[in-house]
Amino acid sequence: MLVPVIMSGGAGTRLWPVSREGYPKPFMKLADGQSLLMKTYQRAASVMSTDYLVTVTNRDYFFESKDNLSQVNSKVQSTFLLEPFGRNTAPAIALAALDILEKQGPEAILLVMSADHLIKDGQRFEDAVAAAATLASQGYLVTFGITPTAPETGFGYIECGDVLGVGYSVARFVEKPAFEKAQQLLASGNHLWNAGIFCFQAGTFLSELEKTAPEIVTIAQACRAQLGDGAVTSMQDYSADIFAKFPDISIDYALLERSDKVAVIPCDFGWSDIGSWQAVSELTVADETLNRTVGQSVIVDSRNVYVQSHDRLVAAVGVQDLVIVDTPDALLVVHADKTQDVRKVVAQLKALG
Ligand code: GDD
Ligand code: MG
Repeated sequence: MLVPVIMSGGAGTRLWPVSREGYPKPFMKLADGQSLLMKTYQRAASVMSTDYLVTVTNRDYFFESKDNLSQVNSKVQSTFLLEPFGRNTAPAIALAALDILEKQGPEAILLVMSADHLIKDGQRFEDAVAAAATLASQGYLVTFGITPTAPETGFGYIECGDVLGVGYSVARFVEKPAFEKAQQLLASGNHLWNAGIFCFQAGTFLSELEKTAPEIVTIAQACRAQLGDGAVTSMQDYSADIFAKFPDISIDYALLERSDKVAVIPCDFGWSDIGSWQAVSELTVADETLNRTVGQSVIVDSRNVYVQSHDRLVAAVGVQDLVIVDTPDALLVVHADKTQDVRKVVAQLKALG
């Protein structure tokens, strides 16, 4: 029994001006017209063994999320666990685990997936999930490990321990190391990136979380209790006053860094967390001068330029190493090496109020 849990929260500030609070990264459409969330739902449908999955998202995104699911699969239903505001992934997953435990029992397996990633090779993904489910049914908290290619500071790092069936036990889990540390981990050659996909039994997850962050389990139970008898249905809208008691903490810090039951499946399924415009631009085929375009544009005497336009025609002449993203009310021009810093634009806008 494998139930996908889709986590759909973060605004994805590095993809401003397309990804914003009112229109976050999971709803961002790629050149083929499908949103990242639609692709995630499709991926989930390819591995699930129940006729429903669980989506944990903000209450403001309920209708659009439901619509995304029905556009890609009209047979699969989602239980929606609706948050009044984000408290990061540990509370979101705890709520999902309690729901699945109650409906399917402690041995039901959760496949927790981020709503804003891209995976190119569907078959390899399915194989990795099958391998992960085997370890999960033996009581492990299974992570998916990607071979690192750079000292990224935005990812978790997994040190492989002993061989464990089709995977490895995890000797150590380091969430978002500082740059020097990331360089060391990369150089060591025995670390993988955490892909942000997790597989575990509802019962194992909750009993491990009881050990490392018991308050999250208690508050999640209180959130559900407040829904009242009979209200724990396919749409659960949690009350803000109890939800506010959750600490703002990710599953990586709350559990994975602290548990000794973590395992990893090394994977190679063309994973990208689409973390920046650089990553988005790489989804488009480049011409012979390394220029790439989405939408209407004219590029003259330029090199390594990515232009994404919507309603307007965008022209670039005699420039290089640029990313240009035009939207109806905001225009982004950023050096191709600085696309990680787009989040600073959002920070400055927030500071201005
Ligand atoms: N429902 C809900 N509520 N979803 C959330 C919330 C929340 O409060 N916060 C984040 N999410 C969703 C995001 O939308 C995303 O799909 C997923 O959970 C992961 O959250 P991110 O905020 O994107 O995490 P991250 O990218 O900083 O780090 C995680 O992912 C990396 C891989 O992309 C960690 O697990 C890292 O270890 C990992 O390497
Ligand atoms: Mg992310």
